[in-house]
Amino acid sequence: MSAFPQFEYHQNTLHAESVPLESIAKKFGTPCYVYSRAALTATFHEFKQAFADDDYLICYAVKANSNLAILNVLAELGCGFDIVSGGELHRVIKAGGDPRKTVFSGVGKLADEMRMALAADILCFNVESVAELQLLNQIAAAMNKTAPVSLRINPDVDSKTHPYISTGLKENKFGIPFAEAEQIYLSADQFQHIQFTGLDCHIGSQLTELSPFTEAGKKLVDLLQRLQSSNLRISHVDLGGGLGIRYSNETPPSIHTYVNALRQTVGSIKCRLLIEPGRSLIGNAGLLLTRTVYIKHTPDRHFAIVDAAMNDLLRPSLYNAYHEILPVNKKNGNPEKYQVVGPVCETGDFLGHDRKLILDTNDLLAVMSSGAYGMSMSSNYNTRPRAAEVMVDGNTIHLIRARETIDQLIAPETILPA
Ligand code: LLP
Repeated sequence: MSAFPQFEYHQNTLHAESVPLESIAKKFGTPCYVYSRAALTATFHEFKQAFADDDYLICYAVKANSNLAILNVLAELGCGFDIVSGGELHRVIKAGGDPRKTVFSGVGKLADEMRMALAADILCFNVESVAELQLLNQIAAAMNKTAPVSLRINPDVDSKTHPYISTGLKENKFGIPFAEAEQIYLSADQFQHIQFTGLDCHIGSQLTELSPFTEAGKKLVDLLQRLQSSNLRISHVDLGGGLGIRYSNETPPSIHTYVNALRQTVGSIKCRLLIEPGRSLIGNAGLLLTRTVYIKHTPDRHFAIVDAAMNDLLRPSLYNAYHEILPVNKKNGNPEKYQVVGPVCETGDFLGHDRKLILDTNDLLAVMSSGAYGMSMSSNYNTRPRAAEVMVDGNTIHLIRARETIDQLIAPETILPA
């Protein structure tokens, strides 16, 4: 199967499902994020089928792509959510998501965000420090509520991914050291307004091997068994997100293999299994459509200057991440090796280096695998309005976020009085 089954060439022109990308560019301009509803739905079903009849909950990591339409498609499919801010909770609720299927992660939850989440009756707080636990206990007391809590355990496991997105090593800021967690669970009495309902970990993102997941999972199961023998009633284990996708030649485990490995790891215990996938659900269901503005040949290099930039898709600049770049219309001729770069005033502003392409001015390009951590990490750097977002459903195109206008960008700003 192709890496992008919903983005395929028909008669040498790239389509999203049944829609030629050219027609999207014509109607909505570029740069433009394009998502396939079918791709997102199919991937969600793959997860569901892999869990079969188990007791499980898929909590989509909203940070990967928080557009309301995407959250809504997932909510309608019965998906839960993993949030890291009050803003993300607001989005989930607006999109028709169920707070009771929502877990709240993150090392720096604010008091107001805790209040909002308690008022919404979320499923669980994934707590990352004793200080956070104390504050949550106080806030829950003031609201006359009990906060359901999982401790996020830092299992000290090497996830073998980019250091910026590795989170489960003891030197990382995330989670509670494995050796300290048991003691905190056993001190439950000190926290009258906390109920420990789960165990949690998330060891990193874009993992392409199974062993770090199973290693972390085994540590959690081990701890859980000790807690159960101390009569603590824990009802779920949350193994976080992190499953990698194929950007170029990576070979991550399939969703089935991954889910099966997790099921086997926690198989011996009677517990609901939660996961928090972000990238693996939406990453390959989206692309960034861009147009060449200038072709520039220097004695050293060929540059394709396109209208998308690091403010639209930060991953290449930030992690040196590779995204495949495909021509929307295949042409005959001799390919040249291009540096595909944006208009932003930084040498780090590139979408791809050394890409073999046949290009002219005004050609359309598709930057693939951009559904996750594309739009959600975009900014207005260089006062560039953020891109439009479109979701294709069969042969229908839905605009799901209008391109920003410059007036919208400067609206919150004020000049000093004269
Ligand atoms: N759960 C927690 C607590 C997380 O921190 C994350 C991602 C996820 C779940 C979802 O992980 P995923 O399944 O998407 O790997 N900006 C980076 C990725 C940062 C991931 C942050 N945490 C990138 O563009 O590669």
